[in-house]
Amino acid sequence: MKLRRIAPIVVLALSVTATGVLLASGENSERGNLVPRTVNAKWKSECGACHVAYPPALLPARSWEELMAGLANHFGEDASLDATTAREIGEYLVRESGDRGASRTGRKAANAIAPADAPMRITGTRWFRHEHDEIAPAVWRRAAIGSPANCAACHKGAAELDFSEHRVAIPRDNSAFSAGQASLGAR
Ligand code: HEC
Ligand code: HEC
Repeated sequence: MKLRRIAPIVVLALSVTATGVLLASGENSERGNLVPRTVNAKWKSECGACHVAYPPALLPARSWEELMAGLANHFGEDASLDATTAREIGEYLVRESGDRGASRTGRKAANAIAPADAPMRITGTRWFRHEHDEIAPAVWRRAAIGSPANCAACHKGAAELDFSEHRVAIPRDNSAFSAGQASLGAR
């Protein structure tokens, strides 16, 4: 008698817990699924010093290997590291890369790259252009953005590798407008 009364309560408690778990994991995968399985502290600090630490999933392993081999001349900068740190970061990037990691978005991005290509830029990939095809060329050149590589200008969660569409805000730029105003005023 007592057991029968308790049973529904137990079932209810279990289903609430299960729903909670489902919600949590659903939210996490929506968070961009560009969040790597693990976060390497050296990668985060060294590769996040000049720009956001780009999601490892957005380039294939072969790209990261080549990029890590050329840090002394990295897009015009010297980003070289001691050999031990470089090896640790390189292995991490390869493990979480688009073709070796667990990110579905990464797999998609990697599959869109020809096997013979090892692009050095995420922003040069077909995946990136497709994902950003509604952004007009002039928008990329706005003073507050400067370059498509400046993810954090528009993706407010970029530092936490959250690139979900819910946290996108394209900065406005009134410099062209102000310049026009100034020249109008001078006339
Ligand atoms: C000394 C500064 C500096 C450091 C440190 C640095 N980078 Fe960069 N990185 C740059 C600059 C400058 C660019 C070009 C940005 C642009 O085009 O606007 C760049 C671009 C990139 C790009 C291409 C972005 C695109 O267009 O898709 C990748 C990938 C990249 N860096 C990865 C790394 C990794 C991995 C590390 C750590 C091992 C690292 N960077 C450390 C300065 C740095
Ligand atoms: C000029 C602003 C801007 C910059 C800079 C930018 N993005 Fe985006 N990004 C957007 C917009 C707008 C979307 C489309 C959001 C939507 O679907 O509503 C988008 C979409 C995305 C998505 C898909 C999000 C989703 O939930 O479907 C990813 C991932 C992404 N960007 C990554 C990057 C990365 C990585 C960089 C830097 C290398 C970058 N973006 C630079 C504006 C920008």
